[in-house]
Amino acid sequence: MATLEDQLEELLDQETFSPPDGFKEQAVVSDAAIYDQAEDYEAFWAERAGALHWDTKWDQVLDWSNPPFAKWFVGGKLNVAYNCVDRHVEAGHGNRVAYHWRGEEGEEVDITYADLHRDVQKFANALTDLGVAKGDVVAIYLPMIPEVAVAMLACARIGAIHNVVFGGFSAESVKERIEFSEAKTLITVDGARRKGKTAPIKETVDEVIGDLVDRIVVVEKTGNGAPMKDGRDHSYAQLLENAAAEHTPEPMDAEDPLYILYTSGSTAKPKGILHTTGGYLTGVAYTHKAVFDLKPDEDIYWCAADVGWVTGHSYIIYGPLANGATSVMWEGAPDYPAKDIWWEIVERYKVTIMYCAPTAIRACMKWGAEHPEKHDLSSLRLLGTVGEPINPKAWLWYWKVIGGGKAPIVDTWWQTETGSIMITTLPGLLDTKPGSAGRPLPGIEAAVVDEEGKDVDEGQGYLILKRPWPSMLRTLYKEDDRFVETYFSKFGKDTYLVGDAARKDEDGYFWIIGRIDDVVNVSGHRLSTAEVESAIVSHPKVAEAAVIGQADEDTGQAITAFVTLEGADDDGDDALIGEIRERVAARIGKFARPKRIIWAGDLPKTRSGKIMRRLLRDIAEGRELGDVTTLRDPDVMAQLEGKIKERD
Ligand code: WTA
Repeated sequence: MATLEDQLEELLDQETFSPPDGFKEQAVVSDAAIYDQAEDYEAFWAERAGALHWDTKWDQVLDWSNPPFAKWFVGGKLNVAYNCVDRHVEAGHGNRVAYHWRGEEGEEVDITYADLHRDVQKFANALTDLGVAKGDVVAIYLPMIPEVAVAMLACARIGAIHNVVFGGFSAESVKERIEFSEAKTLITVDGARRKGKTAPIKETVDEVIGDLVDRIVVVEKTGNGAPMKDGRDHSYAQLLENAAAEHTPEPMDAEDPLYILYTSGSTAKPKGILHTTGGYLTGVAYTHKAVFDLKPDEDIYWCAADVGWVTGHSYIIYGPLANGATSVMWEGAPDYPAKDIWWEIVERYKVTIMYCAPTAIRACMKWGAEHPEKHDLSSLRLLGTVGEPINPKAWLWYWKVIGGGKAPIVDTWWQTETGSIMITTLPGLLDTKPGSAGRPLPGIEAAVVDEEGKDVDEGQGYLILKRPWPSMLRTLYKEDDRFVETYFSKFGKDTYLVGDAARKDEDGYFWIIGRIDDVVNVSGHRLSTAEVESAIVSHPKVAEAAVIGQADEDTGQAITAFVTLEGADDDGDDALIGEIRERVAARIGKFARPKRIIWAGDLPKTRSGKIMRRLLRDIAEGRELGDVTTLRDPDVMAQLEGKIKERD
């Protein structure tokens, strides 16, 4: 019999893959006419919005009179928490599981829609009692525990704007995001478990937070005796115990903010992406149902992302809950307690739809097919990926080893900014091509254009989105000018500049190439080179640093830092490498630590002093150097080349 390796090798020649027999017939979206219908895109989106419960219907679908500031479903009123929870309980689905929560040590807790209803109401009352009001910003720094869903929904219920910070970010990053968003309330945890250890989250936060916030709610999850400050800190369990049981959801304007989520841009200062209520929920509910072919009363859906990223917001919390889905929520890592834990979970809960990042698939591939093969994965009928381009080999492995060759893969392209999936293959309608995200969803118009904004027929260009869509970001929090400048200055106020390069093939399929700005994508985590550089130069021995994203087999891109030390041409030693990496971990988070540090006596700069990262990428990836004539000192490159040879 041919080995797995040989089978995959053979499949590499196959360009397109069709869904298995019968898939189309049962699909939620199985009529290609939807693409034509969506040409009348306001009517199309109004119909999608109609799937939600509105307290007051809108008067106008889209107000685009002041581009690029869109207003969707103008005059409409609704509450997101009501739509995600109460509505399903009222429809008789209170006993349906919203989350099968699985803890690192094997604990299992099923949270039903009725449970969510009870806790969200109480926590909404508790927040109100504490003085949190509509329009206030609430920071949430929690691991993957059910309370994170309760916290987000309670904010939505009272109209507070949540600002979730990914648990992998350091306390300093949390502090910075609290400062930028002017949050006066923080919801966090005593300790977070990770691979058998407990990180003292509350204690670490206390070290940096000072009197920045007025109140901290602490979920006492690990009972590690976290310090509590009288008058400022409150126990989540006690708050819930004392809170009134019933809460009337606040009817929110369709354009009231729902949340801020900070993401990385070209500069060191993160961007506060602002999402609002009606359009966002419309976008995530529609895409979650259509793209994942969701049958809420049959499917067990698992998005293995972290709730702290947009994927978690849209496809662990809001999309699935809006659709009344049953999800799995896994507390831990993919390799703890063992490398087959994901597959054990799929088997245990009979997961039917699985959504994860290519980087995780590559890691599983490396660990070997023997881990998934230990488990019965036959329940899986649809697979998804997100966050970075997937290389065909990893795609095929996912398709064959995990999906058993019978589950279509939806490669979903989107961003924190877009709020919901923009480009993918609707599984009941389109064949898939390994490595291509597919086509813009009905209701979305995307294109690949050149410098002048003209369509590119062959080859790569700028990926753009041509008209507003309901779940688009509305602005950057408190930075309207930066919003316009970043996304709507290159091609005008009607055209959203994505920041990715892409190619479109003869079938209209999009192939995402990567970022065109100084954003690096490490394991699907978005980081700005400037952010990492500024963390590195905060080390007293460092004079200057230039960071690039270097192609990496495991993590897609990895961070390579070229570092010039203070005062001398000397190279640093291993201890200093350790210190610099630790500095980055403390400033941003462990996931941002450079994989490779190269000592550079000098950096390649243009005559005007701009660092030429293109050359640094060439040299790090071992390519022929491009044009060096614009360099102030062309010798720099030869020196660097020597350094790299020495190290490798
Ligand atoms: C990249 C994550 C290729 C892209 C939802 C984008 C992708 C950035 C894909 C957004 C995909 C996301 N194929 N590249 N399917 N999905 N990207 O804001 O560069 O964390 O601009 O949102 O990830 O990252 P973000």
